[in-house]
Amino acid sequence: MNTDRRDLYGVIGNPVAHSKSPAIHAAFSLQTGHALRYERVYAPLDDFIGTVRVFEDEGGLGLNVTLPFKLEAYAYAQTRTERARRAGAVNTLRFDAGKRYGDNTDGIGLVRDLARLGSAGAKSWEGARILILGAGGAARGILGPLLDLHPEIVVLANRTEAAARTLAGLFGAGASPVLPVSTSDLQGRTFELVINATSAGLDGLPPEVPGTLLREARLVYDLGYTGASDSDMTPFLCLAREHGAAATADGLGMLVEQAAESFFIWRGVRPDTVPVLAALRASI
Ligand code: ATR
Repeated sequence: MNTDRRDLYGVIGNPVAHSKSPAIHAAFSLQTGHALRYERVYAPLDDFIGTVRVFEDEGGLGLNVTLPFKLEAYAYAQTRTERARRAGAVNTLRFDAGKRYGDNTDGIGLVRDLARLGSAGAKSWEGARILILGAGGAARGILGPLLDLHPEIVVLANRTEAAARTLAGLFGAGASPVLPVSTSDLQGRTFELVINATSAGLDGLPPEVPGTLLREARLVYDLGYTGASDSDMTPFLCLAREHGAAATADGLGMLVEQAAESFFIWRGVRPDTVPVLAALRASI
């Protein structure tokens, strides 16, 4: 019998052993004085809901949801926030009196990390030209919050142009235009902010983009991170540096920021992310 009376949270995924969320939430817990348990929850690919139900029956109050379950979490939630609806995915579930609430903190996590990186804060991207590479779930999760920064334009470039067109179509009605293009049509264009939201890095390869575009950006950002102790350089950021990019950032900051927003949803307290990110980077 489990005698640990601390409030129970966790991260659910497949795989989940690699997740850094337990370390991040342990640090938030210490920092805020909110004593809680935070566990890794492995779900079989064909039994996400059954696994979540067991967690709820054990008294679990909230889950972070990682790949490949963000769409199933969206379907399982009974109430969804506007930002979850825009993302079409849920990365944070909160359980309260038998009700299931779904939210998505990925996009706001990126925006907060951009604010941390830029001395002028998030406003510094107002009127900017932003390039997103990729048109899958990761791109969809960040598109709405980036449009809220009022850029001049967001160009959505994908290897398969049709996927970019479909995604752009979901976000076409706002003040800033979203232009879908094929990645092969990027020659001669320049952007202040370039974001890699493809999964190409998982194969150890960067998505192919013109070098000039990387050199002329104010910031080249990769949603991915290496997890290696000796380098924060993903294949895409290595390519950006080779082409003389002025500044690069990996997605570890976004990971910590999205976790902090989840912590706020569950506990009503927003942790200070700066020391937690520094400790996480030092530990990997
Ligand atoms: P995620 O949820 O992580 O976004 P996804 O929905 O499978 O994952 O989408 C992966 C994205 O990475 C897609 O935009 C994909 O491009 P395609 O639509 O053309 O498949 C992109 N991608 C994956 N591998 C890539 C590669 N080697 N080069 C360029 N883009 C790649």
